[in-house]
Amino acid sequence: MALSAQDQLKSDAAAAAVSLIQAQLDHDSVVGVGTGSTVNFFIDALADKKGHFRAAVSSSEASTERMRAHGITVLDLNDVNEIDYYIDGADESNEHLQLIKGGGAALTREKIVAAVAREFICIADDSKLVKVLGDFPLPVEVIPMARSYVARKLVALGGVPVYREGVVTDNGNHILDMQNFKIPNPIETERSINNITGVVTSGLFAMRPANVLLLGTKNGVKTQRA
Ligand code: 5RP
Repeated sequence: MALSAQDQLKSDAAAAAVSLIQAQLDHDSVVGVGTGSTVNFFIDALADKKGHFRAAVSSSEASTERMRAHGITVLDLNDVNEIDYYIDGADESNEHLQLIKGGGAALTREKIVAAVAREFICIADDSKLVKVLGDFPLPVEVIPMARSYVARKLVALGGVPVYREGVVTDNGNHILDMQNFKIPNPIETERSINNITGVVTSGLFAMRPANVLLLGTKNGVKTQRA
């Protein structure tokens, strides 16, 4: 079945990520793998190289299941000292490769794997590149009993937190999506949200941005480095 135009751009970015890393992979390499529809294209393309690297570490149950179905070995992060590359999508990126992530509710594990990785390669179609982060509602993962308290604190920061009903993260927590919240100073905002008791993580990847953005466009995949 033919891909939609947007899916074709996602698939192109994912293929470019495999091309970028494949020459560096060896039998000790561990690849960090994110979550989402763009990453699904990456997983499918990575499966062709599965004899060329040791294993993957996954940021979600969904990605783990997809990789195992392809016969890719998935390790627990606690059994791994180093991750060469972390490949993941984004909901938005600015020109500094600071990101909003977590549309798929996997933000906490994504942030942990990104923290461990030597290089974070973000793959996306060009609709994700923005001047100022915040049109996409910023996800915040919260401990369930702290949800209302954290929501009041997020209102005080200027956003409109909306409870993502029916969603429980892989860590057993809830998600608040911050609407109407433009983020001109991402590092400062990330720190402020991290400081609220009961917040597990925000989907703002500003203190640990991507190192490389592979952006699928109708004129080919563009590479941006932070
Ligand atoms: C999941 C994420 C995804 O990377 C983000 O939502 C982008 O997803 P997609 O590739 O489907 O557009 O952060 O938590």
